[in-house]
Amino acid sequence: VVIGLDLGTGGVRAIAVNLQGQVVAQTTQSYPLLTPHPGWTEQQPADWVEASLTALSEVAGQIEGQRAIALGLSGQMHGMVPLDGAGKVIRPAILWNDQRTGAAVAEIEAAVSRSDLIQRTGNPAITGFQLPKLVWLRKEEPQAYEQVRQILLPKDYLGYMLTGEAVTEPSDASGIGCLNLASRQWDQDILTALDISPDLFPTVVESTAIAGRLKQELAERTGLPAGLPVVAGGGDNAAAAIGLGISDRNLKRGSLSIGTSGVIFAPCDVPTPDPQGRVHLFCHADGGYHLLGVTLAAGGALRWYRDTFAPDIAFADLMALAEKSEPGARGVLFLPHLAGERSPYLDPDTRGAWVNLSLAHTQGDLIRAVLEGVAFSLRAALEVIQEISPVNQLLATGGGVRSPLWFHLLADVLHTELVAPKAEEGAAYGAAILAMVGVGAYPSLAEAFDMLPEAIEAVQPQKHAAYEAAFERYTPLYESLKVVR
Ligand code: XUL
Repeated sequence: VVIGLDLGTGGVRAIAVNLQGQVVAQTTQSYPLLTPHPGWTEQQPADWVEASLTALSEVAGQIEGQRAIALGLSGQMHGMVPLDGAGKVIRPAILWNDQRTGAAVAEIEAAVSRSDLIQRTGNPAITGFQLPKLVWLRKEEPQAYEQVRQILLPKDYLGYMLTGEAVTEPSDASGIGCLNLASRQWDQDILTALDISPDLFPTVVESTAIAGRLKQELAERTGLPAGLPVVAGGGDNAAAAIGLGISDRNLKRGSLSIGTSGVIFAPCDVPTPDPQGRVHLFCHADGGYHLLGVTLAAGGALRWYRDTFAPDIAFADLMALAEKSEPGARGVLFLPHLAGERSPYLDPDTRGAWVNLSLAHTQGDLIRAVLEGVAFSLRAALEVIQEISPVNQLLATGGGVRSPLWFHLLADVLHTELVAPKAEEGAAYGAAILAMVGVGAYPSLAEAFDMLPEAIEAVQPQKHAAYEAAFERYTPLYESLKVVR
């Protein structure tokens, strides 16, 4: 069997997968999220390591008798773990959803033009990315910055602790902000312009490369074999896509995930950024590239609604109320920007709204407007993606699409065929597949993909005049509502 591990924001998930692709063991372990100031999010890297070792021990216990031949890593992207010359953590990790770096983003774009950044790295400087965090540290915590000899992404720090080797791979490294997409190596010109040494960043290997081997003492602690090959793996979005077989062998098939955030993923074979940076472009873990549209509050917007207005009502009952409204939510519009936004408006300060309320509106209308507003935001991102990519079918995953109402509404609003995958095992599963290829259990990713179950239940979009009309009314709201800031 092969082990896949996903170092998430809420916790770590470890699974064991046999070479036929079946999950034979799994466990999750959680750890705290620290918010020392409004808008700041941090975690203790030591918590990740402890939880991961516990998760690995549990999986090792569950697979007794079957030999583990590799471990693949994936995890939350964009975070920063600063290490000193002895490899010790200097301060808590700053996470992907942290909002403290506004001034650092401006500093980066003053040193390297926004269009140059987009051409070289696929993206402008973005609040949550790792590079602005390093620039923030230099300005705000200079005594800590002085000690920094290396900075690692979350899953790469875990890999370092497991093996002693500090490496990264392109899918996660391209979310730092200074990886050159064409060469898949650090962009020397950007780092020179910012006066940052390239030596702070680890070596970049391919996602299927063996990053190192499990240390003897951790083998004893977890029950996994000493010297177990640890494969570099991928950032969580890229790894989840690998787990669904999404790669540049079929550029028409992407994915849609409705978790806390809503994410549209489209593979591409050449790195073509949106010149305005309205969607992200990263390296994929298959050697190619992918576009990514992110609506920060998707399932999170519905959860906020429930927690705030209907704490005693189950999600299924909220959906039943929404069902009683009608397409177009009887005129109510909702902007889902409760946590700022990434796509297609890269704007951490924009905020949400219901618009066009009347005395006649019901709770069902308000909920339906939330579901539709999230779908409109994703549609706006998908339209940008489709200017670049031929993607026209999305594998739909995540808690939100388990609601038949939201699933069908998304198909109709996105005007795209949605397919429910037969098995959805997430980023840990993709990490396991990368590990299988890494140790030669499959000669290539293409051959590993052949074992994945074919997707089932395709839903064709229906053309709905009410959604088209509502989307047209939704589109100008972002600009108009800037007056209330
Ligand atoms: C992607 C992103 C998130 C994190 C969450 O750009 O910010 O999906 O990877 O884990």
